[in-house]
Amino acid sequence: MKAVLCKGFGGPETLVVEDVADASAGAGQVVIDVKSCGVNFPDALMIQNLYQFKPDLPFSPGGEVAGVVSAIGDGVGGVKVGDRVIGSTGWGGMAEKIAVDVARVTPIPDVMPFDEASAFLMTYGTSHHALKDRANIQPGESLLVLGAAGGVGLAAVELGKVMGAKVIAAASSQEKLQVALDHGAEAGFVYPHQPLDRDQQKAFSAQIKELTGGQGADVVYDPVGGDYCEPALRATNWEGRFLIVGFPAGIAKVPMNLALLKGCQIVGVFWGAFAGREPERNKANTAELMQLYVDGKIKPFVSSRYAMQDAGDAIRELMDRKAKGKVVVTVGD
Ligand SMILES: NC(=O)c1ccc[n+]([C@@H]2O[C@H](COP(=O)([O-])OP(=O)(O)OC[C@H]3O[C@@H](n4cnc5c(N)ncnc54)[C@H](OP(=O)(O)O)[C@@H]3O)[C@@H](O)[C@H]2O)c1
Repeated sequence: MKAVLCKGFGGPETLVVEDVADASAGAGQVVIDVKSCGVNFPDALMIQNLYQFKPDLPFSPGGEVAGVVSAIGDGVGGVKVGDRVIGSTGWGGMAEKIAVDVARVTPIPDVMPFDEASAFLMTYGTSHHALKDRANIQPGESLLVLGAAGGVGLAAVELGKVMGAKVIAAASSQEKLQVALDHGAEAGFVYPHQPLDRDQQKAFSAQIKELTGGQGADVVYDPVGGDYCEPALRATNWEGRFLIVGFPAGIAKVPMNLALLKGCQIVGVFWGAFAGREPERNKANTAELMQLYVDGKIKPFVSSRYAMQDAGDAIRELMDRKAKGKVVVTVGD
């Protein structure tokens, strides 16, 4: 089978496509014939050896796939050959086949095409867990989403709307802001590329205050970090919840007195760890998300599709801050 390979840590241009031995199902595993692989920011970090999970070389990037089950290992129940599924793989997804533990396999509805399925679980799973379990967001609350046209950001915009929040989108270009407005944000603003000087940070906070009637946001969803984190925390409402989701712009250091002054919570979000530690709760959340999809309330916005030999360009699109919604690599026919 063909696989995209990271043979030495480096940028996306170092990835190659090679023939490797076919994947086979061990005990408790299924083999998925991959049709589509979603691209997520962790893929960019992993190939550079900058992520918390560090696979041995050589490995294929690709943390989630959609495809068809083609083989079943010993002791596997509940899944059969021919089932259409999502595999939450961590890595290894940019390959024609992958063996996955059955616990990491999720059946998909017939109406869900493979490209959307491969762009679904990581983003919606993260944002749903963040807003529901970590922020306990309530109807009528204001939700500020930074990086609102990115993968997890756009999912937070859609889910925030579904949960009855007033969604305010923030992004680095008018084009990206428009994507978020088209997907359910009620209002928004464009922020500059960093570094942000003091005046730009103050203007950033002032825009959030203005769009929340002077109160600040009840919930802040931050998958961006860097210079954007502190001014957003300064514009968080009393008893607000500030969700720490990711750091493509860098890991911010913020003055902790801000949490005291706002009486707010700074809340970590780690969906993968939650899913591992609390599989039953995660399963219930996933079922909720599938129902929202079937009901037409959420829908992944797949803006770019790449062939396997161009997988590096797909990852590059995220690293260059150009991606809108989701980027996928098409693997099977
Ligand atoms: N905590 C969890 O459980 C969890 C789960 C999944 C992903 N994540 C993390 O969430 C973050 C976003 O992941 P994603 O897959 O949604 O990525 P993505 O689609 O690339 O979105 C990231 C957004 O960050 C913004 N950004 C700011 N500075 C950037 C930079 N220097 N390079 C690239 N983007 C930059 C961009 O929006 P603007 O240009 O509008 O600023 C971009 O749309 C990553 O850090 C990822 O590791 C966390």
